[in-house]
Amino acid sequence: MCGIVGIASSNRNVGPLIVDCLKKLEYRGYDSVGVAIVGKHGILIRKGAGKIDSVDEAKCLRCLEGNVGIGHTRWATHGPPTDENAHPHTDCEGRIAVVHNGIIENYMELKKMLIAKGHVFRSSTDTEVIAHLLEENARNNSDFFDVFRRTVRSLSGSYALAVVSVMAPGKIFFARKHSPLVIGLGKDVMFVASDIPAFLDFTNKVIVLNDGELGYIDSGSVYMETIEGKPIDVSSRILVVPWTAEQARKEGFPHFMLKEIHEQPLVIGETIRGFGIDYEKGAEMLVNGKNIFVTAAGTSFHASLYFALLTMKLSSQKVIPFISSEYEVYAHVASEDDVLLAVSQSGETIDTLAALRAFKQKGAKVVSLTNVIGSVIARESDRQIYMKAGPEIGVAATKTFTVQLTALTWLSILISHHTGKIGENELKEINSSLKELPSLVEKTINLYSGWSKELSNFMAKKASAYYLSRGLGVPIALEGALKLKEIAYIHAEGYPAGESKHGPIALVEKNFPVVFVSIEKSLEKRLHGNVEEMKARGAHTIGIIPKDSGLRELFDRTAILPSSNEFLTPILGVVPLQLLAYYTAVEKGYDPDKPRNLAKTVTVE
Ligand code: AGP
Repeated sequence: MCGIVGIASSNRNVGPLIVDCLKKLEYRGYDSVGVAIVGKHGILIRKGAGKIDSVDEAKCLRCLEGNVGIGHTRWATHGPPTDENAHPHTDCEGRIAVVHNGIIENYMELKKMLIAKGHVFRSSTDTEVIAHLLEENARNNSDFFDVFRRTVRSLSGSYALAVVSVMAPGKIFFARKHSPLVIGLGKDVMFVASDIPAFLDFTNKVIVLNDGELGYIDSGSVYMETIEGKPIDVSSRILVVPWTAEQARKEGFPHFMLKEIHEQPLVIGETIRGFGIDYEKGAEMLVNGKNIFVTAAGTSFHASLYFALLTMKLSSQKVIPFISSEYEVYAHVASEDDVLLAVSQSGETIDTLAALRAFKQKGAKVVSLTNVIGSVIARESDRQIYMKAGPEIGVAATKTFTVQLTALTWLSILISHHTGKIGENELKEINSSLKELPSLVEKTINLYSGWSKELSNFMAKKASAYYLSRGLGVPIALEGALKLKEIAYIHAEGYPAGESKHGPIALVEKNFPVVFVSIEKSLEKRLHGNVEEMKARGAHTIGIIPKDSGLRELFDRTAILPSSNEFLTPILGVVPLQLLAYYTAVEKGYDPDKPRNLAKTVTVE
């Protein structure tokens, strides 16, 4: 977790730039924030607990003056979110400042050794040991890059680091292992940051660091080498990213989440246009596996579950879905003949990465679907498929979910084509309905924005809600419930409708909200029975149903989805549920972009 930034410029005052870049990274954590600048008379630091705007207002982080500096926005792991634990951290003399994303696993033993040598610690973070270790290693070494290199070599765990020192005032030193870090190459200004949107306003020329790489930037150049000391040809690593700064902004919407819901037609269209050889190769690898496993966390798991259900339905190919944090038992039964599909928007989720590594250890092949080029999950898989959702800033996944569903539907169709269950003609038909999908999603947003807003007045007063479905609709019900609970803080449970009478129905009383998602015509009759059971107990029923549904007159409120192919209807069905969660959060006065206790990328187990 955490977002880090470092900026070196030849002529600009970097204080305000660092604060602006940190604001683009606030989705990575927002417990505390801090900035360190190499000033004329040493390192100047301002930091504190709280969100960037409030700490900046109280302490004027942006007022710090100098051409080189680093900043950090934190999601607490070691030590509570306090002023003392806010980054940057310094050595005893205040001549070195460090920002860090990750966890230093050997920090306790390093801290003991450093305390024995007389170092005085001010925080309870693992990060502070790095500053003191640099200080210790610099005692007999005036080459600060060599000091940095040696220090990094003695760290274990995960880190993305940016370091400044009065011993090398024009430089920012960086290193990466298991936490993301990118370099931005601007004109007379260089950046190091956790993610590309941090500096997109200034440059789209980037270098994505690999694990075990380190180096330094100054205002006009980058030096990189491997942790073993082998120099890296920087020019061969420069990429030009297609995202515009505009894509990473709110574009007039009050929240990123709403902007991202409205972006869905565009990014689904781009994803469909990107269907190519990587999907075909991925499908081929999956189909050649003895068993197909699919794993992910949270929203990405709901998309993965959809993939498993659809693939089994279309191709009769067995697919075993599992939540990535539960990987041990599944990896235990995996073999080198099996294939794992790892799904992760960020490509950095530690649970999904752990599942991937456990399967690789068993000799299984891994195909990944991620949204971030060069992310660790992508790099560690045998085959990569990239979704084209663009940066998602809202903590609640929206556009990345529908893009995942689109990409996974196509993968599932290709598998069914490989296994001979879908013929050429059917493939053509599916292709043409896919082309209509972006405009159908747009239509659904337009049809149900007002409807969701109106329903949110009712929902905002409720303490609990159920989201029920059968078959292909179950992952959509699960996702609807997750959205409501994570941003509107309403207890919401999603589960297969048939389970109601095995316990959950006990909670239902007059006006208890129950959302039903109906997708498959063949399951409609049985779902009807479940709706009646809820109505008999006074539930307030809300139906999300396809155009040709026979359940139109059944519910207290109904969203009728535009007609589409049955296995694309779930992508439409989640849209009113995203909008409902969004408007309910807003109605309750919460910021849907920054739900409490959550961070966008979860890199701790
Ligand atoms: C959903 O809104 C959450 N942001 C969360 O469940 C998320 O989907 C999960 O943490 C997985 O993230 P990933 O796709 O980046 O691996």
